[in-house]
Parts: sequence; structure tokens; C-alpha cells
Amino acid sequence: MIEIQVRRDAIGDGVAVEREVVLAEGETLLAIELFSMTANNVTYAVHGVDFQYWNFWPAPEGRGVVPVWGFARVVESRADGVEVGQRFYGYWPMASHAVVRPRTLLGKVSARGFDDVSEHRAKLAAVYNRYVTADDAMGSEAVQALFRPLFTTAFALEAMLADGPGTLVLASASSKTALGLAALAKARGARVIGLTSAANAGFCEATGYFDLVLPYEQSGTLDGEAGPVALVDMAGNGVVRAAVHRALGVRLEASHVVGDTHWDVLAADLLPGPQPQFFFAPTVIAERVQEWGPAGFEARLAAAWALFAGSLGWLAVREIAGAEAVLPAWGALVRGEIDPRQGLVARL
Ligand SMILES: NC(=O)c1ccc[n+]([C@@H]2O[C@H](COP(=O)([O-])OP(=O)(O)OC[C@H]3O[C@@H](n4cnc5c(N)ncnc54)[C@H](OP(=O)(O)O)[C@@H]3O)[C@@H](O)[C@H]2O)c1
Repeated sequence: MIEIQVRRDAIGDGVAVEREVVLAEGETLLAIELFSMTANNVTYAVHGVDFQYWNFWPAPEGRGVVPVWGFARVVESRADGVEVGQRFYGYWPMASHAVVRPRTLLGKVSARGFDDVSEHRAKLAAVYNRYVTADDAMGSEAVQALFRPLFTTAFALEAMLADGPGTLVLASASSKTALGLAALAKARGARVIGLTSAANAGFCEATGYFDLVLPYEQSGTLDGEAGPVALVDMAGNGVVRAAVHRALGVRLEASHVVGDTHWDVLAADLLPGPQPQFFFAPTVIAERVQEWGPAGFEARLAAAWALFAGSLGWLAVREIAGAEAVLPAWGALVRGEIDPRQGLVARL
């Protein structure tokens, strides 16, 4: 198999490594046919150690394998009830293949899929260990690989924010997670303000998901907002976050940090207003599943997705293949060279 390994201390530097796979009893080998590459994957690498994202796909000392979302097909199986040809959606390594240890019930994969019960994954968040039987209920596989993880996060954010302030400020408004949240929040009647790079402001406006779009340089003008306001910072830009806190002061009721893609911009010191809380989607999703039940969660998510999916006319899917294309694309992603219209999907 071919695997992309990145330097933990310089995540933009990756190499393609070829290695042999030997399946143990109970394991299954899958060929990864399509995975998405977005800023979210950069956050996985930035938090590889503290959030244990490096632990999903172990790599040699000093290196890490970045987790990605997508689809894979079983090519060999030594696990009872998992058959060659079956296809699953889930959390894979940035690689051509993956080895998992499926938990089957009565020697069968359940109608929903399976959990990877490999020992090294036992203590990691359950949502990442779940592999779902592939279907097209949420649209094409490219759209699913791009949006299933990000829209589910947007949905969880909206579930958390719905009872809060009626005005939302979303930083890194052009990210797919922010766009999903903006659409859902606007649909319930919230006032949604997007903060973004000057170059992406026109794109954000054209989506129609925002009541107001401001380039980062104008974050200070938020001092005219009446409040109460909640800030949702998608990419962890400490300078922008500080500007919003200063502009709104006590009118800011909540401050959430969703991602750390702006990993090169250090977080500011103590800020006026509520201290930022890191949002960890798996925890909030688990709480909602507890409250609504798994079927209730799925039904609400499906209804929200139906609302958003019809508005994706702006999305341009770009497919790339091979390490020679994936390595530079990863480097560009880490440097923040992302066209927000683009949905990048890849295979090795
Ligand atoms: N906490 C959680 O559980 C969780 C779950 C899912 C996603 N997330 C986070 O949500 C964020 C958005 O992810 P996504 O996959 O939706 O993003 P995406 O669609 O790939 O977003 C691209 C946008 O992010 C901004 N950006 C990303 N990296 C940058 C960099 N290095 N320098 C400058 N700008 C950068 C730019 O927006 P602007 O020009 O608008 O700034 C860019 O247009 C990520 O940080 C991700 O980790 C967190």
C-alpha cells in the first residue's frame, strides 16, 4: 500500500511511503477509493498529539498519517461476515489502503456497518471508529466525503446554538462547516454575519447564507451590532477572535473555537468577554444522540441536510489521483491556499 506520512513538526512536509500489508486473523483490508481534503484535515494534523488524531493510523517516530473521510471497498478479509466488494464510508488514513478489525454481530456486518475494534483505537472517540455501509442517500460520494463530517459538525453546532443569542458571527465564513451552519441558522431566523478573507468575501455573499459579510480587516465595525452575539471561530485565528471580542465586549455572550487551521496565527492573551471554548463535535453529537436517540438524531440530520443540499450550486468538485497530485495539494491546504468553491476529493 501507499501511505502519505507527514512530519509532525512540519505538517506540510509529506512523503509517499510504500509498505507491505499482512492481514491478521479478524482483520480486513480495504482499498480507499475516494477521500476529501479540507481544512478539517489540517486541524487533525495540528491536534495530532493533544486530540490523539495521530493514534488512528500509527506511523514511524516523528511522522503522522493524516485521517481523512471517504469511501473504501473491501479487497481482502479475514473477518467473519465481511465480504470482498462491500463498500463503507468512514474515517481512513491518507493512503491507498487501510486495515481494520471489524466487530461483527453473529458473524455479520450489521445493516448500518461495523466498528473498528483494533486495540490501538479502543480509547478514541467512537464516532471515528464507526464504518457505515455506503449508500447514496446524501448524494454523490464526492459530496458525501466532503460534507458528511463537516455538515454533521455544522448541525451539531446549530443544535448547541439554537437556544442562544439571535446573532451569530462566523469567522472563516467561507469554510464548508461555516456555510452549513450559516444556512441552518439563517433558516431558523438568526442574524448571521460572516467574517472572511477579503478574497473570499464576494463568494460568501453570493451563497446567500449570510445577512452581512465583512472582510477580517473590518471586524472592528461589529461594535455597531446590538447583541447578544455568539462568535463561532471556524479556523482559530487568534487575531480575528481578539478583534471580535474587543468590538463586542459584554454583548458577546459565547465564543466557540471549532478548528485550528490558522495554526500559524497564535491565539491572543486573555480576551474581553466570555473565554473561548473549544468545540469538539464528537462530544456534542454523542450528547444529542443520547437525548434524541440514534434514529431521532439521524432523522433531524437528514432533514437539515435536505435543506442545505439543494443550495450547493456553488460547489465545484475537483478530483485528483496519485501521490504526485495529493502531496502538493496537501501542502497547499496547509498553507491555506484554498478556493472555497472547490471541493477537493482524492485517491492514491
Ligand atoms: N471541532 C470539531 O469537531 C470540528 C469538526 C469539523 C470541522 N472543524 C473545523 O472547521 C474548520 C473549517 O473546516 P472545513 O473543512 O469546513 O474548511 P474548508 O471548507 O476547507 O475551509 C476553507 C476555508 O478555511 C479558511 N482557511 C483554512 N485554512 C487556512 C489557512 N491555513 N490560512 C488561512 N485561511 C485558512 C479559509 O477561509 P476564510 O478565508 O473564510 O478564513 C478557507 O476558505 C477547520 O478548522 C476544521 O478543523 C472542527
